[in-house]
Amino acid sequence: MFSVGIVGTGSYVPEEVTTNVDLEKIVDTNDEWITSRTGIRERHFAPKDVPVSELCYQAGLRALEDAKVAPEDVDLVIIATITPDYAFPATACLVADRLGAKNAAAFDLEAGCTGFIYGVATASQFIATGMYKTALVIGGETMSKILNWEDRSTCILFGDGAGAAVLQAVDEGSGFLSFELGSDGSGGPLLKQPAGGSMCPASRETVEKQQHTVHMAGNEVYKFAVRIMGEVAVKVLEKIGLTQADVDILIPHQANIRIVDAAVKRLGISPDKVIVNLDKYGNMSAASIPVALDEAAKEGRLAAGNTIVMVGFGTGLTWGACVLRWTKAGFTA
Ligand code: COA
Repeated sequence: MFSVGIVGTGSYVPEEVTTNVDLEKIVDTNDEWITSRTGIRERHFAPKDVPVSELCYQAGLRALEDAKVAPEDVDLVIIATITPDYAFPATACLVADRLGAKNAAAFDLEAGCTGFIYGVATASQFIATGMYKTALVIGGETMSKILNWEDRSTCILFGDGAGAAVLQAVDEGSGFLSFELGSDGSGGPLLKQPAGGSMCPASRETVEKQQHTVHMAGNEVYKFAVRIMGEVAVKVLEKIGLTQADVDILIPHQANIRIVDAAVKRLGISPDKVIVNLDKYGNMSAASIPVALDEAAKEGRLAAGNTIVMVGFGTGLTWGACVLRWTKAGFTA
């Protein structure tokens, strides 16, 4: 079995910034409430005619450039998303085609905001066994397309973006040291898009009832998130005989600063080791963790040999974490 690591990262967010004050004009909310309850100050939204594949393409291109990998050398493209261009074909196929990744297998993976962690765990197995040499994993979302602009408890939370990572075999002892993934489908009703699938196909009624948008029991998801982030981070470290004291950098899913702070406090990890960018982007679902990873790499916050924990939770319910021993001091942009 080969050790597997991240050899390049990239990210992309749409240009247009929507501040909390901008949201005050379309829904009954205010900057003070959003900032104090979530930590979010602004987010980026894609124009109406820009699909998630465009965001994923841009992030993927940057990650390949960063890794100095030619598109034709990519063996596998996985896109984690809950806002694909279409129910089918897979967005990963469209993005692989645009990138010129002619020799790649490609598929989408749906694990909500945990999607990027599920994606790197999946891609790693192909490389660890020697079946593939290079994988491109992208977490991308256009959450703006599925928000109910009359529901102030959800529409203020999310943003659009994409983050990508190129995975290859690395020296033993580097790269991914452990993964921990989980799910609990009994919590599915807490966070879902009720219509558009085979359970409730699209109809005039489903559109009128706003059933193609995010429906969430915010308080329940909040409690679950705080508990599971701490539990799964401890478990993934324990698997390889490490503890929270060994963590150099924590990259949590960027849903709400109160969730991050509560989980970090429970874990006893110093806040200066925690990457937070949700103030600028809101919750970008599957894109949150890889965008934060890319920014941290580009800002020089990740040093060679650092022990990085990435941890997420999301619809499903799903959760996941990984321990990554960073192999480079930083990438050239
Ligand atoms: N602006 C102003 N007031 C708002 C508001 C908004 N955008 N959204 C809700 N409120 C109001 C509510 O109507 C409620 O008013 P009431 O007391 O008069 O009934 C009050 O604020 C408190 O609502 P509550 O839902 O208890 O707020 P909260 O502190 O729990 O925060 C969330 C709500 C959604 C921010 C929080 O529950 C959360 O972050 N949950 C997790 C969400 C998440 O991470 N989802 C993605 C998972 S991947």
